[in-house]
Amino acid sequence: MPFNDLREYISALEREGEIQRIEQEVDPDLEVGAIIRRSYDLRAPAPLFLSLKGYPRGRIFGAPIGLSRQQGRPFARFAISMDMPPESTPLEIIEEYIRRIQKPLKPVLVKDGPCKENILKGDDVDLNVFPAPLLHDGDGGRYLGTWHANITRDPDTGVHNWGLYRLMIHDKKSMGGLFQPIQNIGVQYYTKYEPRGLPMEFAIAMGTEPVTPWIAGTRFPPNVSEADIIGAIRGAPLELVKCETVDLAVPATSEIVIEGIVPPKERKEEGPFGEYTGFMAGDRIPRPVYHVTAISYRNDPIVPVTCMGVPVDDAAVSLSLTKAANILEETRSRGFPVKAVYCPPEAVSHWTVVSTKVPYPGYSRYLAHAVWGIPWGRSAWYLVIVEEDVDVTDMGQVLWAISTMCHPKRGVVQVENVPGHPLLPFLGPEEKHKNLAAYTLLDCTWPRDWPRDAIPLKISFEKAWPKEIQEKVLKNWRSYGYKE
Ligand SMILES: Cc1cc2nc3c(=O)[nH]c(=O)nc-3n(C[C@H](O)[C@H](O)[C@H](O)COP(=O)(O)O)c2cc1C
Repeated sequence: MPFNDLREYISALEREGEIQRIEQEVDPDLEVGAIIRRSYDLRAPAPLFLSLKGYPRGRIFGAPIGLSRQQGRPFARFAISMDMPPESTPLEIIEEYIRRIQKPLKPVLVKDGPCKENILKGDDVDLNVFPAPLLHDGDGGRYLGTWHANITRDPDTGVHNWGLYRLMIHDKKSMGGLFQPIQNIGVQYYTKYEPRGLPMEFAIAMGTEPVTPWIAGTRFPPNVSEADIIGAIRGAPLELVKCETVDLAVPATSEIVIEGIVPPKERKEEGPFGEYTGFMAGDRIPRPVYHVTAISYRNDPIVPVTCMGVPVDDAAVSLSLTKAANILEETRSRGFPVKAVYCPPEAVSHWTVVSTKVPYPGYSRYLAHAVWGIPWGRSAWYLVIVEEDVDVTDMGQVLWAISTMCHPKRGVVQVENVPGHPLLPFLGPEEKHKNLAAYTLLDCTWPRDWPRDAIPLKISFEKAWPKEIQEKVLKNWRSYGYKE
């Protein structure tokens, strides 16, 4: 059964040993962030902060889908969020995700929901009622929004976009954040609302059932409503309620809903912020301003928080899995005989490893350009293409493939002057300013224009010994004295 709210998800995690309740008083200024960060480093259970200094009724839930240290179930939290067994492997999660998103389910509108238990409007609006943490030393402010859905509507098509874009508190009634012109919200704001002199309505849904934030953080084409995809992943439609002051709808069980407008032509300094790359790579510069017209929230609301930084954290997990799934689905649907795709979360989704059959000479480069041309592939800065017998989730095998099968010159293909983004730490100041980056393909497949006998034999247990010897050795393994 899918989860109806964040509280059900937290209970399920607790049953699986994935929650650490913290009763001791903790300071939202830096201490919360440091605890969440250390929990990632140790792969410890997700911290649930129950006593926050200065916020008698505040609660924070950290590391919502961080990796687990429990044996054989590193992706337990993500799998549980999809209502899958905690032991699910990343490749099982990716294949299941692809299966489920084939059947989008539209949300249903309901009259009321727990998110309406408390409503603040007009002069009562005050963002400071929530324990927004100062996460990293050096952040430009307190970030209330790190793990939520930011809902806006395209003024031309009416399609609603659910994205995940950070939110820093400016004052009790306004927030600032980073969104880029290439993202769906950026297209709506910079090319539609703002040039027409119109305010863009927004609704932030925070503390929802667990799928919403990571689908919001996943790239979809502008004509796709992420709410329908969330329904597909859950196998049940989301229940939405209407907002109080804007013409948008939000999940009825959200812990906190913040609504309002982003006016045209207004900017205020926002950032910097410790980012998903593991660096504070962005600037403090003037960015659009979210003016809050209403806040509604559940009794004793829980603020979900991800504290991004050196991998592996929630962003690295979700971006890696959903990016791999998107690339696998898109390349397969275009007829490429791709076997598996994996973006190791340690590489913050910047590396993509693709294993594939190689049907003809020149295929790898063709496939590489196809990957770079699809929505998530746009940020496959390092693309590694390997033969189908390499396990893309085993970095030992991938490293071996790069070291032995990728020609140090011919196998490395570079493409310059592709669209970048301002958070990439490897870009120089000028490239950041121009928003330009580059791609590298490491082609670890054997050239199919070589004569067959030029391709060396792989010396692995499975390939270099006759079947009958393999079977004999496996059968006798314990009688040789081995325990496992
Ligand atoms: C935890 C997390 C935080 C994110 N924060 C931001 C952000 O502050 N600004 C941004 O432009 N993208 C951010 N992203 C990436 C976007 O959410 C992602 O590109 C998403 O696809 C945007 O939706 P869109 O494709 O509908 O524009 C974040 C992603 C995650 C997982």
